[in-house]
Amino acid sequence: PTLIFIEHNGTQHQVSGAIGQSVMQAATFASVPGLPADCGGACACATCHAYVEEAWMQRLPAAEGMESDMLDYAFERRENSRLTCQLVISEAMDGLVIHLPESQF
Ligand code: FES
Repeated sequence: PTLIFIEHNGTQHQVSGAIGQSVMQAATFASVPGLPADCGGACACATCHAYVEEAWMQRLPAAEGMESDMLDYAFERRENSRLTCQLVISEAMDGLVIHLPESQF
């Protein structure tokens, strides 16, 4: 599936992700900037925080427990905030658009 990352400055990155990989891993392998993911995907740092394009919100499983708690530490949490290390890529995510925050701090 192809994922589209849009940096805060508008730069777009098209990344092809593997099913079962996390959205954070796909971005990291493709060297998309802005997702330092300090904890390596353990849902313990919130520096893989990004915004899911509104139209996609309903199509993804909701953030639960640990992810939702950790999102409170993210920079400017919004309705559509997610931790990308907790989003597992599926075929249904082809075309998913992720907006990167201005900062991770
Ligand atoms: Fe640390 Fe996602 S990489 S919470």
